[in-house]
Parts: sequence; structure tokens; C-alpha cells
Amino acid sequence: MTTKRDFLRLGDLSLAEARQVLSLSECLKREPKGRRTQLLAGRAIAVVLEKASTRTRVSFEVGCAQLGAHPVVLGVQGSQLGRGEPIRDTARVLARYCDAIVFRTSATSRLLEMAEAPVPVVNALTDDGHPIQVLCDIFTIEEQLTTSIAGKRVAFVGDCGCNMARSWLEAAPIFGFHLVLAGPASHAPPAHEIAAAGTHVSQVFDPEGAAVGCDVVNTDVWASMGQEAEAATRARAFAGWTVDEEMLRVADPHAIVLHCLPAHRGEEIDEATLEGPRSRVWDQAENRLHVQKGLLVWLLGKAGDVR
Ligand code: CP
Ligand code: NVA
Repeated sequence: MTTKRDFLRLGDLSLAEARQVLSLSECLKREPKGRRTQLLAGRAIAVVLEKASTRTRVSFEVGCAQLGAHPVVLGVQGSQLGRGEPIRDTARVLARYCDAIVFRTSATSRLLEMAEAPVPVVNALTDDGHPIQVLCDIFTIEEQLTTSIAGKRVAFVGDCGCNMARSWLEAAPIFGFHLVLAGPASHAPPAHEIAAAGTHVSQVFDPEGAAVGCDVVNTDVWASMGQEAEAATRARAFAGWTVDEEMLRVADPHAIVLHCLPAHRGEEIDEATLEGPRSRVWDQAENRLHVQKGLLVWLLGKAGDVR
């Protein structure tokens, strides 16, 4: 019996395994529409969303369909989750019907409970991380810069305490790039997470220095899902940290800009930058589809069948 594998955090894959997933994803992206592999035919994938989603839901649902698998999307409303059925019961039942579970939730403890299911579980965002997004974004960076992310300088600007920033922080030592966390000191990741990134991270507390020499500048909303009540306070805390041309003046001339979306124009990023020549956000959104397909194929043991 083989042990099931999960993707709850980036470190759940070794670098070699992550590289395997990314190269599988490249193969799947290149497949002509009319000759798509049916590698996961007969399988069912549960996509359980306890928070709102557009990209994650659609990219997993379409990705499953393209692989011949059946996606089952479950929200809080309309399922027994909304009426308080324990996650561990949901997990056991889903595993009787489905071959993998993709889960978006709030607390990491809920994710870990779901991961007790005897099938692979994929973290599709928690309050503490968004590792699948970052894995997909590494694919986009390497595709767009046409070189490895290793040795590159990647800035995360704005709310450095948010789930996206924390997954970037986890990724830096694994993939060997330098992460610049640029934002107000009041909103930083937990100290032990910064310490774990060692020399792969530095912090900048002044917007003028945020993008200096960076190859990639990445940002995210100032108020994440669940923080809506703090939106006004947060807007004040992050004032001056908008990613715009002024901030990017000191970046590498070929620097690209990423945003996992949804974007709040005029807050964490301005319209001109989001729609401008440095922006790769639409490719970034598309690549969710390809990389998640690669990950599902890998987790379900079909990597060897991709040509
Ligand atoms: N980036 C991202 O995860 O988008 P959704 O919240 O729309 O899924
Ligand atoms: N930090 C954002 C990411 C959305 C994909 C949030 O959690 O709302």
C-alpha cells in the first residue's frame, strides 16, 4: 500500500517533486485542445469551499473536466457543513466517493482535520497560506522570465502578514530565490516563519525601497477574506504601499508584476500597473488551471503517464 500524499503547504513536496509537478504542468499546458489526455478518467475530485472563490473553483472544476475526472463542488450553503457537520466526518464520507479533496477554509486546524481523509488533500487557501497559488505563480514567473526563479529577487508588497505573503516566505528557501517583504512593520508574518527563511528573506519598511532591483513584484489585497470589518483600518495602515509606476521605477527594467486577484484598483495596485506592460496577472490566472492539473495528476500517481 502506498501512503497518500497531500499538498497542504509547499514543503509537502521536495524541490525535485515540485519540479516534476511544474514540468508535468508544462506538458499539460502544451496539449492541443482536441487531444487532451483523459489521465484521470473515472475519478472524482471534491472541491470544498468554505470561503468565496472564482479562480480556484473554476480552474479546478475545468481542470478536472479536461483530465476526464468529475469535479464535485461543495459550498457551506447547501451542504451539511453550514449546519455544523464536523470536518472529520465530512472528510471520511468524501473519501468514500472521491479520489482527492481540494479544500478552502479559514483555520489551518480545519484543513488538518480534512487531511485525515485517506485520500490526497490540497490546500486551496487558509488564513495562514495559499500554497497552490504560489506554486502556480512560480510556474508563471519561470514561463514569463524564461529562466529559473532560483537566484531571483521577488518582492511581496503590502500586507506581508497575509496568507499569500506567508506562502511566498515558505517558498523562498525551497526554490532558492530572495524574497523582499515590503510593508508596514505592523503587518508582518510570524517571526518564526521569517527566521525559517534564513538568508532568503529581507524586510523593507519604506515603500521607496520596496522594489529595488526586483525581478518580480507581487501584491495582494489589503483586507483578506474574513478581515472585511478591518478594511478601513487596514487601508490607513497600508496607505503609501500601492504598487504603481513610481514604486516600480527602481525595479529591474524587465520586472514583471503579479497579483493573485481579486484586485482592488487604487488600493494595493493602481489601474495603470495592473493593465500595463509589466503585468502578467492574466497569464497568472490562466496558469492556475495548468499547474493544478499537473498537481492532481502527480498526487493521483499518474505522472508517469504524461508524455
Ligand atoms: N487567487 C484566487 O485564489 O482567486 P479566488 O479567490 O477567486 O479563487
Ligand atoms: N489574501 C487573499 C487572497 C485571495 C485569493 C484572501 O485571503 O482573501
